[in-house]
Amino acid sequence: MEKKIKKIKEEIIFKLNSVSNLKGIEKIKVEYLGRKGLVTLLLRRLGELSIQERPKIGQLLNQTKREIEELLEIKTIEIEKLEKNKKLKEESIDVTLPGKKSDRGSIHPINLVLKKTEEIFLNIGFKIEEGPEVELDYYNFEALNIPKDHPARDAQDSFYLNREILLRTHTSPVEIRVMEKQPPPVRIIATGKCYRRDAADSTHSPMFHQIEGLAVDRDITFGDLKGVLTVFVHRMFGEDRKVRFRPGYFPFTEPSAEVDVSCLLCHGKGCRACGYSGWLEIMGAGMTDPAVFNMVGYDPEKYSGFAFGMGVERIAMLKYGINDIRLFFENDLRFLKQF
Ligand code: PHE
Repeated sequence: MEKKIKKIKEEIIFKLNSVSNLKGIEKIKVEYLGRKGLVTLLLRRLGELSIQERPKIGQLLNQTKREIEELLEIKTIEIEKLEKNKKLKEESIDVTLPGKKSDRGSIHPINLVLKKTEEIFLNIGFKIEEGPEVELDYYNFEALNIPKDHPARDAQDSFYLNREILLRTHTSPVEIRVMEKQPPPVRIIATGKCYRRDAADSTHSPMFHQIEGLAVDRDITFGDLKGVLTVFVHRMFGEDRKVRFRPGYFPFTEPSAEVDVSCLLCHGKGCRACGYSGWLEIMGAGMTDPAVFNMVGYDPEKYSGFAFGMGVERIAMLKYGINDIRLFFENDLRFLKQF
């Protein structure tokens, strides 16, 4: 009996040596320890032994059973480790293989101009503000000294939601909102969408973007306005650009000016792009009208200010040489990819 038990153990050690997967281990387990396994059968037959032999053999059998279980356990762990390593090796990524190219987006030219503008004005001490696109008639017109009978208020030009509310036609109402909520000094720009009832063509779009600027303090002069806008033009278009101010008219500035930049194509010599004038108009500007200060409760005797407003699409068209405003809104990837 003792010999038989020893033999069983040797057999198992021998078999385990050649086992290479978990299935093989399971087979051995069933063969020896299962319900009809060899060791199980021997344990069952203990009763056939003499009383003297029984405890000794019983002890030996139980110990052997534990040893077998331990051997199987060790082998199981070993195989599991091997299989895991094999799997890891098979699934490893070859980083030298060429990758799949994913499509890359680009920043829309309107956003490029907006970002650049914000950077320029933040650098010279302006803050960024914003206002609603759905605006009260009061802010869009009334408070900007645009009286009820002014042609700019014509219902033909504006999208009215009702008698009091419309889609803002410019970003100037943000000037009023900012001045209403804070005392001078003010140095802000505001950007955003504006709406006018224009039929779309190469230079018009019913929705477009504007950049508004406002500075209010003691002793602000037209010279400050010229200085700030010259810095803007140089940083936006290049140091070699010239800036020109022509008299203009806006109800909320006095005096008012139209601001031109020297033609980017012919450098002022005159070409088709600039109508042979050498200049391109880029914005409206002026010194804040005292009537506007009165509307927001600023003292026009104490404070003065300048304001300007420009079309972002127009700036982008000039900067990038784009000849049709509709290209900005069609989202043709062949166009957008160029920026
Ligand atoms: N709001 C004017 C426009 O839309 C532009 C402007 C802004 C002019 C500020 C002067 C001062 O045409």
